[in-house]
Amino acid sequence: MNRKVGVIGLGYVGLPLACLTASKGIETIGFDLNKKKIELISNGISPIRDKSVSTELDIALKSDNLSLSNSIDDLSECNIYLVCVPTPILENKQPDLSILLNATEMICEVLKTDDILIIESTVFPGTCEDYVEKLIFEKTNMDSRKDYVLSHCPERVNPGDPYWNTSNIPRVIGSTTKEGNLKAAQFYAQILEGEIIEVKDIQKRICRSSLPTHDENNNKKNIPNGSITLMETIRDAEAVKAMENTVRDVNIAFVNELAKISRVLKLDIVDIIDGMETKPFGKGPYYPGIGVGGHCIAVDPEWLKNASNKAGYFPEMINLARHTNNEMAVFAVNIIKDLCQKSGLNHKDLNCLLLGVSYKKNIDDSRESPFYTVEELAKDTFKSISVYDPFFPEISTSNNLETLVNNTDIIILITNHDIFVDFIHSFDFSNTTVKIMFDGRNCIDSNKIAGNIIYSGIGIRN
Ligand SMILES: NC(=O)c1ccc[n+]([C@@H]2O[C@H](COP(=O)([O-])OP(=O)(O)OC[C@H]3O[C@@H](n4cnc5c(N)ncnc54)[C@H](O)[C@@H]3O)[C@@H](O)[C@H]2O)c1
Repeated sequence: MNRKVGVIGLGYVGLPLACLTASKGIETIGFDLNKKKIELISNGISPIRDKSVSTELDIALKSDNLSLSNSIDDLSECNIYLVCVPTPILENKQPDLSILLNATEMICEVLKTDDILIIESTVFPGTCEDYVEKLIFEKTNMDSRKDYVLSHCPERVNPGDPYWNTSNIPRVIGSTTKEGNLKAAQFYAQILEGEIIEVKDIQKRICRSSLPTHDENNNKKNIPNGSITLMETIRDAEAVKAMENTVRDVNIAFVNELAKISRVLKLDIVDIIDGMETKPFGKGPYYPGIGVGGHCIAVDPEWLKNASNKAGYFPEMINLARHTNNEMAVFAVNIIKDLCQKSGLNHKDLNCLLLGVSYKKNIDDSRESPFYTVEELAKDTFKSISVYDPFFPEISTSNNLETLVNNTDIIILITNHDIFVDFIHSFDFSNTTVKIMFDGRNCIDSNKIAGNIIYSGIGIRN
């Protein structure tokens, strides 16, 4: 297909992107409402004071593939639209979608069948479907599920970064259809010269052993530069951006709290952080679960809090984190009760099997394990409970897992021991009484569960 790209909004995100597509040989029109900006860029002057953007602009203009406009009609021959307009917040901290919707309305004037519309602006989950798609349907009667492709590919550019830029930062993408997602991803694969990856394959690529897998740019080597990861839905792609920035905000807030603790304990926080940086594992990514145990993570924050309290600073985030993690067992059991109710089952009539006593997979340590809280809650919730963990024969109800599975209605997986994952993936649950499986560690591939079982877990869609 002969591609012509329209980039809407030529700021920190849009200008380097327009330069990139042009320098990759794709005819590109950069569109901005700001006439002065268009004039400057047309004259080879980057409004962004960044040497590399000036160089990129120079290359793009010399390629003769980049033209600039402030008239939307000039974009009528484009078939790929990349929207990079601002998405600020209002004074009352509510999202301001007016600029995005204004840009969408203008695009409606030029959008045609089979075009690809990609929102790169940062938005909250649901924006593309609930606002952009609806507006387009209202104005044009076009449906993103059959007439055009609607995607979200959040920009992650880090202005001023000497290494990461628009051409090499790994991307995620989501669309309103799977076919549309692949088409849009193929476009990015062309400009980023990167590999397309399914999100379900990411965990396999992230080496979580202690092997040194990080290069000097702190990039996980198995997530190649310029790669584009296919998210399941457009909302998922929106959520990646919103959540990755929120995770960062919370972590910065937390180190700010550590700075306050350091002050009262007379420590230099930057040295401490640099010291912590030398630990080669256990720094992320973090995944949610049914609880945090062990003699370190569940204990050490209490020691730190105690020392800080004594020195006169009373940390809040440690309490909040400890409380949140301790409450995950309650959260899990409540989800299970809800699933029972939705399925017309009375949880008080059901037998429950708890899989895993250890706080962590493949070890025989149960100190501070969430097992104990889940066990207490399960005793109060279900008709009976049984327990199995090969590392704890003395606590296990039986040493025969199959027998236990054949006598239960609900399975709660507390520890992701390999033996449990392998068993669940290979066992035929069809002729058992098991009705619900709750995965407290998000370690089971639900497609590999043989039998008609309701599968859920922490942070799983259903
Ligand atoms: N700046 C960053 O580092 C960064 C990084 C990642 C994501 N983002 C996101 O990317 C989006 C754009 O951010 P930015 O920093 O490039 O903004 P910016 O303010 O630098 O540029 C936006 C451009 O859009 C133009 N514009 C406004 N309304 C328009 C319309 N209807 N049609 C055409 N042009 C219009 C403005 O004139 C401006 O030139 C935001 O959603 C932002 O959150 C920004």
